Amino acid sequence: MGRAELTGRDFISTADWSVDEIGTALDVARELKGAFKSGDPHRLLSDRTLFMIFLDLSTRTRNAFEAGMTQLGGHAHFIDANTSQIAHGESPRDMGIILSSYGHGIAIRHDKVPGEGNAYIREVARYSETPVINLQCDEDHPTQQLADLMTIEEVFGTRDLTGMKVCVSWAYAPSYAKPMSVPQGLALLLPRFGADVTIARPPEYRLMSHVMDRARLIATRGGGSITEVDDMDAGFADAQVVYPKSWGAEHLFGNEQEALALNAKYKDWICNHRRMQTAANDAIYMHCLPADRGYEVTDEVIDGEQSVVFQEAENRLHSGKALLALTMGGYATSG
Ligand code: CP
Repeated sequence: MGRAELTGRDFISTADWSVDEIGTALDVARELKGAFKSGDPHRLLSDRTLFMIFLDLSTRTRNAFEAGMTQLGGHAHFIDANTSQIAHGESPRDMGIILSSYGHGIAIRHDKVPGEGNAYIREVARYSETPVINLQCDEDHPTQQLADLMTIEEVFGTRDLTGMKVCVSWAYAPSYAKPMSVPQGLALLLPRFGADVTIARPPEYRLMSHVMDRARLIATRGGGSITEVDDMDAGFADAQVVYPKSWGAEHLFGNEQEALALNAKYKDWICNHRRMQTAANDAIYMHCLPADRGYEVTDEVIDGEQSVVFQEAENRLHSGKALLALTMGGYATSG
């Protein structure tokens, strides 16, 4: 896959890119990580502008993409939806037309309401003359999942995940109903590289059916599989990657009180030392962060030797830069 061929492409779901194209992004991410570490300039996007629209809070995603654009020689312009005319209902069509006439890329986070974010991002992309990157929607968090796959490859030395059991487990959190996009994004991506993904969740925490139907379809084509269980211990058993995190029950988004009351029925769904011992000997603990310490995971685990969360968070920068450089024309004249 030539790098130039990815110029102008949207990145709204990993499922929209072929395995080869994702492999190209991982190769570029590794190169850019090396350049960043050795201090070599890599101004692939000189004088180019990325508009970043956020309809939700962010630490890693905003700062990785903002720093990433600076390091690539361009500029990331942050738009808080609440202080723009989006708050007055300006349409995604108009945002796509207008912002793409000012710059070279648009990136969007719209993840709080099931049924809305992915449709909004795809509508912006329909009318944008520039590439559109999904910084997390209701269905997927593809820039996070690219960093997750990059981290797994670094740890295990291969991106061929054939035979690897990955446990994506629901975990208890008392804070708020978190999006379903991360577990869904993992199910969409990792089986295409051969992984056997087990989703462990209480019965009420089903993932979005149309997303999981797509994930199961492409899983089999990639040689991996998706299994669902309602027992965290069964999910953890012999897994080489454990990724326990909270998400909201789809029918209770918008009803915070009931959502948190339902969560509270499952306080024992925590990633702790006992559970880590049931995973494979070489198991790693992953989390997109922020984690609810003491609820989703004990300090002992998240700060322990098996945890790769800070490597994973750092890789948001390198993998994000790879996506920016590839889609916004950083390799437009190369092979
Ligand atoms: N993992 C992740 O997306 O973090 P932020 O919400 O801080 O961007």
